[in-house]
Amino acid sequence: MPVDFIKEDKTAVITLNRPEALNAFDPELSGAFSEALVNFMNDDSLWVGIITGAGNAFSAGADIAALLPAIKKNSDEQFKKAPNIMRGLSIWKPLIAAVNGAALGGGLELVLACDLRIATENAMFGFPEVTLGLVPGWGGTQRITRAVPSAIAAELLFLGRPISAARALQTGLVNRVVPRSDLMTAAKSMAAGLCRCAPLAVRVAKQAMVQGLDMPLEKGLDLEKSLNDYLVTTEDFNEGCAAHLEKRKPTFKER
Ligand code: CAA
Repeated sequence: MPVDFIKEDKTAVITLNRPEALNAFDPELSGAFSEALVNFMNDDSLWVGIITGAGNAFSAGADIAALLPAIKKNSDEQFKKAPNIMRGLSIWKPLIAAVNGAALGGGLELVLACDLRIATENAMFGFPEVTLGLVPGWGGTQRITRAVPSAIAAELLFLGRPISAARALQTGLVNRVVPRSDLMTAAKSMAAGLCRCAPLAVRVAKQAMVQGLDMPLEKGLDLEKSLNDYLVTTEDFNEGCAAHLEKRKPTFKER
């Protein structure tokens, strides 16, 4: 299977499983990944997703032999067939990238499409596209400038040289850097923290944050208000407030 999909309580662990090609996206992996994301999105029992790679790389991006020639023929086709979080599919449930090694090209674009990012000490992040005569085509030119200062974005986009995990942490591209052996424990602990919060509120926080980035402030404030107006009608809002006042842990029901 090009993608492993494992449910652990309220968390889905989605693993890109093509380690012999450093989890580069060929048409099979792209299709399976899209399917896994849609399953995660539509499964009400799942609140958080962790995306990681099998083997020693997170993902080396688009498969240069098997996918890039198809892009030359029809660049829209891949996302019509297999929409994913880089393009075409908005998922408001939180996603954690557990970056177990190189995240290059489309691999870094996938990291950027996740909300929270934990990397191993040997991970590296880069956009080698300019060395191939391309620019990132899965949102990289747009999301990198929203994630790090423009000089760092320009360095990544124009020079095609990767940066280390330590530099990624320093520039705010990732939340944490951990030894390889601690990666999944750290990602699951972050997922558990998310699952302790009201899931609809977490989703609304993501939606307001992501959509608000592309709006003038006044519009963003309107969006925040309308989403909050919805949240105060939920059972989980009542439960969260009651639990706080009664000095107990809340039991959220995603309602
Ligand atoms: N496409 C296809 N195959 C790839 C690949 C890719 N992007 N990246 C790695 N592989 C394959 C290699 O061809 C190799 O296969 P074989 O054993 O059959 O030769 C295998 O994975 C292992 O790779 P290496 O032997 O090269 O491993 P390494 O440790 O020496 O080097 C690396 C690792 C620096 C990541 C190197 O593999 C590399 O530079 N890969 C290409 C990365 C790249 O350019 N990515 C951008 C793709 S374009 C893109 O993603 C566009 C977009 O916006 C979507």
